[in-house]
This record gives sequence, structure tokens and C-alpha cells, in this order.
Amino acid sequence: MNSGIHIFDNADELFRGGAERFCELAKEAITQRGAFHVALAGGTTPRGLYRLLSTPEFVAKVPWSGVHLYFGDERCVPPDDRESNFRMVKENLLDRLTGDKPVINRVMAELPPEEAAADYQDRLEKQLPGNTQGQPRFDLVLLGMGADGHIASLFPDTPILHETEKSVSALYVDKLESWRISLTLPVIHHARHIMLLVSGGKKADILRHIHHTTPCAAPLPIQMLMCKSSVEWYLDKDAAQQL
Ligand code: 6PG
Repeated sequence: MNSGIHIFDNADELFRGGAERFCELAKEAITQRGAFHVALAGGTTPRGLYRLLSTPEFVAKVPWSGVHLYFGDERCVPPDDRESNFRMVKENLLDRLTGDKPVINRVMAELPPEEAAADYQDRLEKQLPGNTQGQPRFDLVLLGMGADGHIASLFPDTPILHETEKSVSALYVDKLESWRISLTLPVIHHARHIMLLVSGGKKADILRHIHHTTPCAAPLPIQMLMCKSSVEWYLDKDAAQQL
């Protein structure tokens, strides 16, 4: 399901649109519930969004002391590794915030994968408010999407896609020859809001595919998400050129 497709002229305008929506949801959550629990996307696309959120213009709009940052997924590397999503968020957002700081809940990805997943799952259960069924509930899950239709570290044809209970799992990704820790579909489904931030012509084919074809017997991870959850799409024109 789509709860809106927002298309922007270029990546900078996309980041601005995404930052405005982030601020709106943060203020709403903090006003209504006293905190904003958000899982951030990794990869490269959101770097521009995070940098924009750290500028004085947006720092003034977000009550950062009420923001609780989590990660949608993490590579199983130390936090100072160039592959680390935490390091990417630290460099593009956290180190640039000069005033109030958010509460950071990073994945302890330097631990053995199963241990890191269990630790993160435990912290989500303790720190996130529960939904009506008692499952951990994010106010926002911000996701990117790969050209193969993966979201977070939910890659096509991986067992994690069939997890129905746990909020967090460790998985070995054959094609990357590396371990990842990822939120699972159930906890993403429970989120109050889900934003997909997609930029660049390399994502045009996959966007056309998922918006113009009915999910087949083996839906892609993004299609599995869309079957049960409303997604807000934030795209630039290059990515949306085939829609
Ligand atoms: C990661 C991300 C991953 C990312 C997509 C898109 O850890 O890499 O969580 O799901 O969002 O792979 O990556 P780009 O934004 O770099 O295209």
C-alpha cells in the first residue's frame, strides 16, 4: 500500500522534503507521547538527509532531546568501521549536532551476530512503547531500498523474510559474504509511519517493477512490506522516471 508518493526535482529537494516530514513526525510524537522513536536507514542515500537535519535550520525544528535513534539494520563490524551504519550516522548527523543530542541506541555489531541481535532485540523490547499486542512500536522506520528490492538487510530469498515473532535477526548475506543485523518485517509493519527514501536512476527499474506489477508468488522484500503496511515514498525525479 502507498500512503503517498512524493517526487522531488533532485536529491537536495528530496532530502529537504524528507527532513520536513521527519521534523513533522518528531514534533507530533514528542507532543503526543513525550518521545520520538525512529529507526534510521543505512547505506548512502540518507547521508544528505542526515546532514540537512544537522543544520541550524532543522536543528531548530526538532526537539532532539526527545528523539531516540535506532538503526533499521547494521553491518557486523565495529562502530568505527567504514562499513558501519552507525559510523555513517555519526559522521553525517550526530557529530554535527551542536545543541541537544538524541538518545542513541546503536546495534552492538562488534559482538558475535546472534549475540548482537539478541542484545538489540532486548533493548527494543525494553525501550520502545508497545502496540496493542505488546510488540515494540517505532514512531517511524526510515528505509532505503536496494535495486534488488531489499529494505534494511531484508534481502530477497533470505530466511529472515519469514520471521514472524522476533523484531531483530542476524543473517548471513551470501551475495555480500557478510553478516548483518536487521529489523524484521513484523516490527516494521507495527511502525506508526514508514518512509522509503529512494534516489537516482539506478533505482528506476525496481520502482517501476514494484509499482506496476502485482506481487507474484515470490514477492520481493519491499512488496512483502507493501502488502501489509502503508508506505510513504520520497523519490527524486531520476528514481521516479519510469513511474
Ligand atoms: C544498508 C541499508 C540498505 C540500504 C539499501 C540502499 O545497510 O545498506 O540499510 O538497506 O538502505 O541498500 O542503499 P543505498 O542508499 O546506498 O542505495
